[in-house]
Amino acid sequence: MGEAQQQRLPVHVGIVMDGNGRWAKKRLLPRVIGHQAGMKALERVIDAAKELGIRYLSVYAFSTENWRRPSSEVQGLMGLFRYYLKGKMEQMHRRNARVRFAGRMDAFPQDILKITGEAEQRTRGNDGIDVIFCTNYGGRQEILDAVSKLIASGQDGPVTEERLRGFMYVPDVPDPDLLIRTGGELRMSNFWLWEGAYSEYYFTDVLWPDFERSELERALASYAGRERRYGAA
Ligand code: FPP
Repeated sequence: MGEAQQQRLPVHVGIVMDGNGRWAKKRLLPRVIGHQAGMKALERVIDAAKELGIRYLSVYAFSTENWRRPSSEVQGLMGLFRYYLKGKMEQMHRRNARVRFAGRMDAFPQDILKITGEAEQRTRGNDGIDVIFCTNYGGRQEILDAVSKLIASGQDGPVTEERLRGFMYVPDVPDPDLLIRTGGELRMSNFWLWEGAYSEYYFTDVLWPDFERSELERALASYAGRERRYGAA
């Protein structure tokens, strides 16, 4: 990476990992095999992001709408979460990665909550990269949850952006600078609705399981060439 590009590296990159199903379909394989390949792609991207110096990486792993998929697929995804969280956490810890979860976690089975809680605790002190798994996440739901928590807090006074932000799922994480979506669709599907207000978007037709380090570098190069004005002239 060139020096100029290095200077304009996003601090927080968010990814909508889309296209697992189509990747599997093209190969006449079950969708869950596509998710499995997606998990491998995620491992590669976490390593690449860390090496490239990205401080926060958030990934849309399961949306509040994904429960509507056939139960075999939902079960397959839960199985992958279990496998991944149990098998890979130690590796993430050794790589100085802090693992975090954002979403309505209480909808998950107890055993998954146990592993996610342990992973967060175990990696709490790591500061190489924060990997935020958005699981049972929805941007609108996050805003509703924040408003509910604000009301429940009993604090009065004007509702400001700063106050509401304090009740979001990961309030200390800076807003995403760059949001990437793979798989060819040109929308964000309820990902980081509040936090993404001024994010730069990058879309690619590449299906998530095919996403390589070079694709990430391409997205970063695109980001480096943009001028961010946050609404100012
Ligand atoms: C979208 O592809 C992807 C998902 C709904 C799930 C993302 C999950 C992973 C990458 C698996 C591993 C994650 C962890 C945390 C272990 P799609 O099924 O909508 O693809 P399609 O649009 O081609 O049908």
